[in-house]
Amino acid sequence: MVATVVALLALGACTGPAEPPPTSTSTEPVASEPRPSASPTVSLRTVAPKDLLIGSSVVGGGHLSGTDHPQPLESDAAYRQLLATQFATLTPENALKWASVEPARDTYDFAAGDAAVAFAEQHGEQVRGHNLMWHQSNPAWLTEGGFTPDQLRQILHDHISTVVGHYRGRIAAWDVANEIFDDYGRLQAGDPFTDALGVGIVADAFRWAHEADPAAVLYLNDYNVESSAAKRQAYLDLARQLLAQGVPLGGMGIQGHLSLQYPPFPPDFRSTLQAFADLGLDVAITELDVRMALTGGEATGDQLATQADWYRQAVAGCLAVARCVSVTMWGLPDTYSWVPATFTGQGAATPFIDDSTAKPAFDALVAALQAGRT
Ligand code: G3I
Repeated sequence: MVATVVALLALGACTGPAEPPPTSTSTEPVASEPRPSASPTVSLRTVAPKDLLIGSSVVGGGHLSGTDHPQPLESDAAYRQLLATQFATLTPENALKWASVEPARDTYDFAAGDAAVAFAEQHGEQVRGHNLMWHQSNPAWLTEGGFTPDQLRQILHDHISTVVGHYRGRIAAWDVANEIFDDYGRLQAGDPFTDALGVGIVADAFRWAHEADPAAVLYLNDYNVESSAAKRQAYLDLARQLLAQGVPLGGMGIQGHLSLQYPPFPPDFRSTLQAFADLGLDVAITELDVRMALTGGEATGDQLATQADWYRQAVAGCLAVARCVSVTMWGLPDTYSWVPATFTGQGAATPFIDDSTAKPAFDALVAALQAGRT
């Protein structure tokens, strides 16, 4: 298996479209006992049904800013190979957030975003754009600028028009409004735009994004939607209102940041996807990961087996909902994940230990994708 990966690396993922590894025809169920980690010999994007895109974030910036590998897409050939061969859709983890892309007013830095989009195009992959409005990762000039509501409205319009326009025709879906409700279903404090202008600004954000790229599918996106009834209801109510007003809302993103510390797997996961699909929206799992407490520093076999089952259930939930169009995993491999930097003592959240070592969760994903739509 090591030889397989070495041979794949020798193909040079950055020099042209990379061939995915051969498709496995195995229909073996996921082993109930965790297996030793191994190099992947099949490609998730190849085993996935044609109408479900399997994806990954493109890590970089954010928690990696202060490390010796701030942009692994540039510095890590094995990482490029992993992204090139396994996935059909990519989402820049941090490159398109406000602080990254508009660090000073009217001064845009598209370098990292352009690199991710070009890489995706080179490998026949779609891109999800993340994000246009959020209460985090905003630059100080925006949050501390003392702007009037009218000025903020103009600033948001200009940002959305410029960023979405820059990628017109190249980014298939945008997370327009990210995490705008808290777990109680209240407007999330800290977003400079909803703080000043109320939830009504969300409709304008969608309209401006649509004007800038009419082909992009425009999403609301949040975590815990599958677990918090109040948050879910707030999004369902908002989505209905936006659709009734003719606002170009096209999809609901269920982030899917799950933790083994809060078992069981969210029982309402699938029905949550279905509830938004029933409104006529696409749904997508946009940031899937399954973190765990690492007592002793490493995941146990039992934890890895449970994690594998949760990944299987997440993908099976998507496959069961006809309008569920993609499953994107966040921060893989474990060596680049945001989790240890945010949750002390936790980690091992992704299906890969490192660029070339898959975990039992990978086998579970393969099996779930091979089972197809139900
Ligand atoms: O702002 C500070 C800065 O003042 C400080 O100098 C610097 C030192 O490293 O850290 C800066 O904050 C970092 C921030 O990125 C900068 O954008 C945080 O430490 C870092 O944890 C943060 O990471 C990103 C986080 O979003 C916030 O943007 C993660 O890489 C990224 O994985 C995470 O992704 C989010 C999604 O966008 C939305 N859903 C939840 C998901 C996980 O939090």
